[in-house]
Amino acid sequence: MHQKMIAPSLFAGNHSNLLAGLNTIAESGAGIVHLDIMDGHLVPNLSFGPETVAELRARSDLFFDSHLMLMNPGNFVKKFIDAGSDRLTIHAECSGNIRSIFDDIKAANRRIGLAINPETAVDEIVNYLDQVDVVVVMSVWPGFCGQKFKPSTISKVEHLAAFRKINDLKYLIEVDGGINGANSHVCYGAGADILVVGTSFFEAENKRCFIKNMKVI
Ligand code: DX5
Ligand code: ZN
Repeated sequence: MHQKMIAPSLFAGNHSNLLAGLNTIAESGAGIVHLDIMDGHLVPNLSFGPETVAELRARSDLFFDSHLMLMNPGNFVKKFIDAGSDRLTIHAECSGNIRSIFDDIKAANRRIGLAINPETAVDEIVNYLDQVDVVVVMSVWPGFCGQKFKPSTISKVEHLAAFRKINDLKYLIEVDGGINGANSHVCYGAGADILVVGTSFFEAENKRCFIKNMKVI
């Protein structure tokens, strides 16, 4: 039985009161907060920076899952490590030196994540899969919450799960974008371990029940 995890995305909460959103996530029992960091280059939007993450870190015991949607993550990864990120995910589509960024994350004893956009095939990242703790499969175009889940994601999750098994690898599979109670079971069924929830989480009336129900296939 694989462990199912849910990572609520703070980006989908109220940006005038991020601490309230963080506390809502903590009270839901999810245990993880997904932090969407955007640079206006890799994605057509901006969000928050390392100072914000550090301030939130000082007020939270949650696992900080930082999703760095940055064209040049090499310039920033150390700042997000110092800010207290537990896991740092960079994009395969970035222009940085992926292996040396992984080295920096590893040296700081944090978890390594690699994300792929909807148009990027699993085949393009196979050479990195023995080094990563998590692969993040984007199920929407990154940059905005509230989009519709792309069904083509499922075959990529299945591919990653099969590759993991055949090669006896240990990475987790995280799916990010457009996830709700209607498609969570398909993601878990395909082999996902972690589901990011933004809009569906903040819209849920009872967040504890929502988190609990999302883990039931
Ligand atoms: C998209 C982000 C997602 C997003 C999830 O760029 O990476 O984490 O905030 O939000 P929903 O669940 O609304 O798609
Ligand atoms: Zn994200």
